[in-house]
Amino acid sequence: MATKVLMVCLGNICRSPMAEGLLRHKIRALNLDVETDSAGTAGYHIGSKPDHRMIDTAAKYGVDISDLRARQFQASDLETFDYVFAMDKENQLNMQALAKNEKQRNKVKLFLEQVNHPDLSEVPDPYYGDQAAFEFVFNLLDEATDTFIETLKKL
Ligand code: 4NP
Repeated sequence: MATKVLMVCLGNICRSPMAEGLLRHKIRALNLDVETDSAGTAGYHIGSKPDHRMIDTAAKYGVDISDLRARQFQASDLETFDYVFAMDKENQLNMQALAKNEKQRNKVKLFLEQVNHPDLSEVPDPYYGDQAAFEFVFNLLDEATDTFIETLKKL
């Protein structure tokens, strides 16, 4: 059975679709049996495409995320997915508040902690930032997904 991975941020239009898109891109290239999805803890942007600044930054590096559409995280995701990754601590706490038991609570990890990032535990929100903020998020998630792919290859 495919391993299911969910990436979660606040709006599901910047960080988590980028994390999902990068992971999807790499999984396809390696032909791994992994399903990817993303969601936002907030419902502000349900049905929207990723932010055009994130789409354009991804496209610059050859990654297409224009087909992704935002949805809101729901409690049942904690059952459905094998891995649930939060982009920041607020997203993590909001998801953990919906957990039915300790197993579900412990499933919600900070993505950068999962990959043992040397400097950061949270992916900064680029929404109110400039182009450099989007480039920073892309590079951070590119590196983090490379590390996580090594875990997926071993499954
Ligand atoms: P994301 O960024 O959580 O990385 O998708 C945001 C997108 C929208 C908003 C905040 C953050 N917003 O306030 O609408």
